Amino acid sequence: MEVYKLNDTAKLFHLNADQSKKLLDNNIIPNIKKSSPTRDTYHVPQLLVDYALEKLGMQKAKEFKKFHIDENTLDAFKNKNGVKVISFSNLKGGVGKTSIAANFAYNMALLNKRVLLVDMDSQANSSRYFANRYFTGASIKNLFDKMTRKEEINNDTVKEFIIPIEFDNATLNLLPSELSLGRIVEFSRSVFTMPHKKLNDVIKLVKDEYDFIVIDTPPSTGLSLHMALFASDYVSIVTDAEDFSVNGLSELNLEIKEIIDETDHIVKVDSIFINKVKKSNIHGVYIEAIANLAVSENIQNVFTVKDSTRFKESQNLHIPLIEYKKELEKKLVTVDSILSYAVEKALEA
Ligand SMILES: Nc1ncnc2c1ncn2[C@@H]1O[C@H](COP(=O)(O)OP(=O)(O)OP(=O)(O)O)[C@@H](O)[C@H]1O
Ligand SMILES: [Mg+2]
Repeated sequence: MEVYKLNDTAKLFHLNADQSKKLLDNNIIPNIKKSSPTRDTYHVPQLLVDYALEKLGMQKAKEFKKFHIDENTLDAFKNKNGVKVISFSNLKGGVGKTSIAANFAYNMALLNKRVLLVDMDSQANSSRYFANRYFTGASIKNLFDKMTRKEEINNDTVKEFIIPIEFDNATLNLLPSELSLGRIVEFSRSVFTMPHKKLNDVIKLVKDEYDFIVIDTPPSTGLSLHMALFASDYVSIVTDAEDFSVNGLSELNLEIKEIIDETDHIVKVDSIFINKVKKSNIHGVYIEAIANLAVSENIQNVFTVKDSTRFKESQNLHIPLIEYKKELEKKLVTVDSILSYAVEKALEA
């Protein structure tokens, strides 16, 4: 993927370096900025150039010349259609749900969106992806705890548990999880007549403050997954290119259809990420089978993500894949489809 630095970006947009810097600093042209005491370095992948053009309704980069930064232009980047909620799911474990959900959430934040990442998995892996700490006694579990004790919760109560994680280029908000979440979720069955609605009740209280809410889900059918699906507008299925993934996908699809039938809540599966893809014939066969399944289920987007050690590195360093500067161009290949999906969803907004 092509990546432009400040002078290239200025040339590309037919601007001088100062004008270009202003657009980059205001995130009108979203970018990956690295600040140092002596000078800032800007990186703009081609996808972000395309996003800036499309968002502002411009055909060519040249048109930026007559562009003024004012309230109206900044407004052009704000959401118009209200918050969207997206779950990343699969019944199968270890396929990359957390990795893709967390990086998707960060990429959305990079596109100027106000994003909340909700961890509904008691393994709490997405909570720890960017925050190098545990959240025992300070997680979404406490909110369910309060609800099962019939305590009133409001916007302030929910916000108490949301942690802003600040990066140089964007802020990601996290509603973390902890190990005992699973237990309290199961307990809520005995308290509420409609326990599957309880995550939605929590999310509703803070919805206005975000453009996108991303939910990471556990690898099993169960109430946590049902809660997440009931709260979602979209589901993105994350899978790998293995034999039983194809069957597993059909099963998850059935589960989603059941939820739609039982609750009248429409949740649309609009993408599949086939993760950890290696160059092998057998992977090719499974990718084709999954792509066929997507066509038959009317799922528009099928993305592939290469198998790469960068995923583990990014998780260990608590840095989003796209922010991980060393050999940026190579890393963008890894994150390409996640960023593409973020760009697509952000443009819908
Ligand atoms: N494209 C990839 N290439 C190589 N390793 C990957 C890739 N995606 C994820 N991984 C690694 O695979 C492991 C599992 O990923 P992850 O935790 O995201 O999966 P998960 O589906 O959320 O798992 P669980 O079902 O346990 O919640 C992690 O160590 C992660 O770094
Ligand atoms: Mg996970």
